[in-house]
Amino acid sequence: MMMPKVWRVRRDSLSMLDMGAAMDLFFHEICARGKRFFGAMRVIDCKFFVILAAMGWPVLMCHGSVNFKTEILPVLETKCMGCHKAPHEKDGKMVKPKAGLRLDAAWAILKGGESEQAAVVPKDVAKSYAFEVVSLPKDDDMFMPPKGEALTEQEVAKLKLWIEEGADFGGWEGNLEGKPAVAAKVELKVRDHAVLFERLSQGIQPLDAKVVKALNTKVGAQVSPMGTSTPLVRVDFLTGVGACSDENVEALLEIRENITQLDLARTKVTDGALRFVGQMPRLTRLDLRHTGMTDASLEQLAGCKDLVSLNLFGTAVTDAAVPKLVQLKSLQSLYVSDTKVSPDGLAKLREALPDTEVVGALELSAEPKKGGDGDEMRKRKKQQN
Ligand code: HEC
Repeated sequence: MMMPKVWRVRRDSLSMLDMGAAMDLFFHEICARGKRFFGAMRVIDCKFFVILAAMGWPVLMCHGSVNFKTEILPVLETKCMGCHKAPHEKDGKMVKPKAGLRLDAAWAILKGGESEQAAVVPKDVAKSYAFEVVSLPKDDDMFMPPKGEALTEQEVAKLKLWIEEGADFGGWEGNLEGKPAVAAKVELKVRDHAVLFERLSQGIQPLDAKVVKALNTKVGAQVSPMGTSTPLVRVDFLTGVGACSDENVEALLEIRENITQLDLARTKVTDGALRFVGQMPRLTRLDLRHTGMTDASLEQLAGCKDLVSLNLFGTAVTDAAVPKLVQLKSLQSLYVSDTKVSPDGLAKLREALPDTEVVGALELSAEPKKGGDGDEMRKRKKQQN
């Protein structure tokens, strides 16, 4: 593995397991050792028969120790599926799975949500997003479930063990509705995304954990990795938006090569910050909503050649921003609602950026593009907090 799964400095290690869970893990461990022991004994001789018999019981206990249908599925059903199941109607409204993630089918669990990171990767706990989110500290924005009863320590330990043992669904398939008929389609999308990330990951080194920690303590930046196999990171200041000004953004220049997402929403940054942002060559998403941003320095963003999403919601930008924004040809989404951009300005933006979804005042209540965007959802959640 190239880097730790989560650098978010607030993250503690998994809290102490209780006795039941500890026993499970103990048996699991003994199981692995016991099997090796058996192997060795067979070749030597049988005089340790008594010991073998004694080793036998834990081996039996841990053979296929976690049953998905009776031990994992009920937890998913009661604690996760309320928000993570196939689109359905509720009180006359269509409810979509949060972050595009469904946990009501084996194929969907293995596919994952909008992050395109599988919720479960058999035998790889570190890559299993569902395990990560349930074992985060409770005050983390990504802790799951965000509402309702958290998983108990035994449940977390069982999930871990089940993944380690190969995530056997025991024949359960779940809800087949929505399962991609041609798996290739999903793979294509994943590949597109992967190609961009792979390209952006070229030629950069993973960040030093010390640097990440120092940025957190000195300027309040939360730096989190975008995945296990990329040195790219996401940065926000959510633990202290009011304390984040242009200097804090300047401090990020130290890691500018690695930043691919930057959330400055509701911070005290001004136009001056864009001089630094423009020096982040791998930036794909920039959130400036509800900041003091004006038209003055938007041309600086031309330095971000792969900028896919720009959020200027609730800023003071006007039609004077239009000629600068139309230069950002890589944009897929541009949010200018609740600004001074006029309907005429909007029309100009749409004409010059035909492949970009430009969201203006009229679409204020509209859902984000294509069934919702993970980051948008994340931000909406944070906005409510
Ligand atoms: C009350 C609703 C709710 C419940 C219950 C809930 N989640 Fe979530 N989940 C969300 C929301 C909202 C997001 C998007 C959060 C964000 O991006 O900040 C999310 C995102 C996720 C993601 C990231 C998906 C991706 O690809 O981006 C995972 C994994 C996840 N949840 C797993 C779980 C698990 C496992 C459970 C049960 C233990 C659970 N969730 C319960 C609302 C919920």
